[in-house]
Amino acid sequence: MPVAATERTLALEWYRRNRERSRTIFDLIDPSAYYSRPIALRNPIVFYEGHLPAFSVIAFLERGLGRPPVDRERQALFARGIDPASEATAVPRSGASTHWPSRDEVLRFARACDDAVMDAIERAPLAAEGLYTALEHEAMHQETLLYMWHRVPYAQKRGPRLPPEGGSHEYSTKDSWLPPSGGRISIPAGTATLGARRPSTGSGQGPSTSSGQGPSTGSGHAGGVVFGWDNEFDEHRADVPAFEIDAHNVTNQDFLAFVEAGGYDRRDLWHDRAWAWLQQDGVRHPAFWVRRDDAWFWRGMFAEYPLPPSWPVYVSHAEATAYARWKGRRLMTEPEFHRAAYGTPSGEEREQPWGDAPADATRANIDFHSWEPMPVGSFPAGASAWGVHDLVGNGWEWTSTVFAPFPGFRPMRSYPEYSAEFFDGEHYVMKGASPATARELVRRSFRNWFRPNYPYVYATFRTVKDSK
Ligand code: AVJ
Ligand code: FE
Repeated sequence: MPVAATERTLALEWYRRNRERSRTIFDLIDPSAYYSRPIALRNPIVFYEGHLPAFSVIAFLERGLGRPPVDRERQALFARGIDPASEATAVPRSGASTHWPSRDEVLRFARACDDAVMDAIERAPLAAEGLYTALEHEAMHQETLLYMWHRVPYAQKRGPRLPPEGGSHEYSTKDSWLPPSGGRISIPAGTATLGARRPSTGSGQGPSTSSGQGPSTGSGHAGGVVFGWDNEFDEHRADVPAFEIDAHNVTNQDFLAFVEAGGYDRRDLWHDRAWAWLQQDGVRHPAFWVRRDDAWFWRGMFAEYPLPPSWPVYVSHAEATAYARWKGRRLMTEPEFHRAAYGTPSGEEREQPWGDAPADATRANIDFHSWEPMPVGSFPAGASAWGVHDLVGNGWEWTSTVFAPFPGFRPMRSYPEYSAEFFDGEHYVMKGASPATARELVRRSFRNWFRPNYPYVYATFRTVKDSK
């Protein structure tokens, strides 16, 4: 299915914008850190600079258009990242961990890929699915890179001090503002729509051409999407019993009470494997927290701040689950997220918590306007119909739902391993978005997932309870 001229222009513009932002992100890292692994469970930084263009060639040019590779050897080296259960099993899926090329070689390879990709966007009869697979993949990795950069020693980071989009969000860590605690909202039983309708024109998951609208708005239209990953299909409905939900995310201040109450020593609050992880890795507090001179600090991108009480706590699924249990509550399910975020008292459903307007930085802390979260409740214009705040933006929301296929799932041709490899019962669904989620990815059906013991992601949570 060929792509309309306007879509071609938008795609080219998005590809260029992606590449520029990636460049800005890599420029934050001192060359001395280029071969380091800021997260031991992931590949070294050098891998990602080659991976982004290599993946675009593989998904779009090779799988989408049936074209030959740009550089077979380099593409194999940079094809895939890793997701090991532990450091001991951190074996790369592709590439040799020792003989990485020089940065000049990586950049030369990247330029060759860029030339081929941009030429195809401009000229080729576009196979749409592969194109958007490549575009969304790069945008997703920009978040991966930034949460990795959060781990890089400050001495190996350099300016600019403004985030990629210019830092439009002012945030203060010395806020006297008190987090609203205890605000809870009752949501009556109802139905939630999960997933998305497959693009109407296509056989695959490619964008619809009938809409004349590129996927750069990031939102669906008339219930469908212009592009979706394989795990977003098919659309289906779920009955959601009445439940009660925190209006705000659990804050650092809230979570501090759990830490100080000895939550990390309470065997009864943790699942077996979560407990084993705490013991093995010596986990005593969230990965974003630093203990110094009997005081807590937040490990920010470029500096440590005295722990901001009103920011959402960023934690692993295991820590979120233990906290909820400590409160006598639980994490929300994926259908409950949909009901709280997109449902309304009248029964209609919305595309976004605030309505049907596309996501932007006035309604949510998304799209690279801030290196860090902001105080919970900073975006009243982004609250859901029930008055639940920050369900989209300011940190992904953990759910208790194991990542699994929706009915009708088919692996996508341009990236068959994307989701299928993670349907192993060991990953949990995250919904919403973080400050480092590109606006193009902020759509109702988008699903993210991680292992319960992966504490590096910009992910927060809130607690819920069955209504009696
Ligand atoms: C969907 C964010 C879990 O980072 O492992 C990037 C995205 N997949 N390249 C990940 C992904 C392949 C994936 N997540
Ligand atoms: Fe990737």
